[in-house]
Amino acid sequence: MHDHAGLWCVEGVWEGQLEITQYECLEGGEDCCRFRPAGTINAGTGSAGSLIPPHEYHTIRNASDDAIAISLHIYQAPITCCSIFERLEGDRYRRSARELSIDNDA
Ligand SMILES: [Fe+2]
Repeated sequence: MHDHAGLWCVEGVWEGQLEITQYECLEGGEDCCRFRPAGTINAGTGSAGSLIPPHEYHTIRNASDDAIAISLHIYQAPITCCSIFERLEGDRYRRSARELSIDNDA
């Protein structure tokens, strides 16, 4: 699970299908947080959605084990970091920081 560092985001599915689960933050903390799942959607080709803080905690994955999924994500501003949440037990998650960058070699 991750956030978008407080930035809004619009996501469109170009090809395939994505499974997106949103989470509600029950208790925030510097290192440990509590979350509960707040619904899962399957977004197919041509669909679009938004993630607007404070409702920005989510997982996203290709819904298929063998088909390609391609999506386009547009952020409010350059996103250089985010938080990753690793499940500990029950509704408790450990927060860690993740630096993000653009691959300039592509
Ligand atoms: Fe995301």
